[in-house]
Amino acid sequence: MTTSRISGFYKMTLEERRAKLADALSSPSGAHLTHPEFAAWTTGGLSPESADHMIENVVGLHSLPLGIALNFTVNGKDVLVPMSIEEPSVVAGASFMAKLARVGGGFQATATEPHMIGQMQVLDLANVHLAQLSLLEHKEKLLAEADAVDPVLKQFGGGAHNLEVRVISDSPIGPFLVVHLIYDVRDAMGANAVNTACERLAPHIEAITGGRVHLRILSNLADHRLARARCTIPVNELAFDDFTGEKVRDGIIEAWAFAASDPYRAATHNKGIMNGVDAVVIATGNDWRAIEAGAHAYAARSGRYTSLSTWGKDRDGNLVGTLEMPMAVGIVGGATKVHPAAQAAVKLMGVITANALAEIIVSVGLAQNMAALRALATEGIQRGHMSLHARQVAIAAGAIGDQIEKVAARMVVEKVVRIDRAEQILKDLQD
Ligand code: MEV
Repeated sequence: MTTSRISGFYKMTLEERRAKLADALSSPSGAHLTHPEFAAWTTGGLSPESADHMIENVVGLHSLPLGIALNFTVNGKDVLVPMSIEEPSVVAGASFMAKLARVGGGFQATATEPHMIGQMQVLDLANVHLAQLSLLEHKEKLLAEADAVDPVLKQFGGGAHNLEVRVISDSPIGPFLVVHLIYDVRDAMGANAVNTACERLAPHIEAITGGRVHLRILSNLADHRLARARCTIPVNELAFDDFTGEKVRDGIIEAWAFAASDPYRAATHNKGIMNGVDAVVIATGNDWRAIEAGAHAYAARSGRYTSLSTWGKDRDGNLVGTLEMPMAVGIVGGATKVHPAAQAAVKLMGVITANALAEIIVSVGLAQNMAALRALATEGIQRGHMSLHARQVAIAAGAIGDQIEKVAARMVVEKVVRIDRAEQILKDLQD
């Protein structure tokens, strides 16, 4: 069995970590990353030539650090989680909370069927209610038409699933209809399949209603494609330094209550969740703007923006966390297919369905949320941030090699982490 527990990982050199990872994966049921796949992470993976085929006006590449979050158990299976992110403390925070969570059985996660929504805006209707009913009467025919768009998807059990027709009565241009095509995209993110199906349906919708189909595009509020995770942390596991487990637990619940009732705090609280979510989404070559848009729109679905997660306690006083959010990620197509580093990331996790990936991502989001709340509710966020941040400031001031640690350590002791101070310390070291 692959184990996600590798002790002392953070103290190792890059080379030692890669060797440990290869060891962890070379066991009989490991992910078996071959050397070239692994190498994608030593070079960044993408060649300028491949990049040139991905977007326009390419002049080069842009890199991010790729770290591995440890200790994760999702649905009873250990998983090593690749995270691409520039912010210090995120990978460490997720790994630490996953360690606490695994004592309580790790993360239990589920995902709904991968149903995406395609929207078609129908304008210039004489009577929106009449058009609505006419479309519903032709529902089966329209679904059959949309179903024929992607035979490959159909073969894997995907395709058109449902058709909903909404009347928008309070728009600045008067009433119009919105047709929702609910499409099962299986292991794809689904934007291409859904947009193609909507474009194919448009003339049929015009013929049935006598109206004009204007926009035909997927909705990022993917509220039919949700991922959910929960975890239980034994209260005694939360104790550290002078903080009892009960104090930490109650502090986390109070912090969540703040986000649950105040949009200003909820935005930051959810940003903490997205620190974990986006890092895995990016590492796997998925569209993080789509995930961000879906998450925040879902957080505002009641009409008031609120927390995506909940924190409370069970009958035994243990801390219980839950997270539910849209998760439109794929493992086939798009950058995930062409980016070698993304391929290695998918393979490392051993996921063979988009839903399995969604379940890991939502678990990381919950772990990340808990890391932030635990820090905020106890010693504050800066202590954990300080040493890595100090290293970044030291590098920015021009420190190289072992100067980086020396300059950073001095700033941490002085509790002054600023570029001017780093420059001064560097100058003193060089004199
Ligand atoms: C920083 O990137 C994320 C936090 O602000 C999240 C939060 O406040 O919950 C620490």
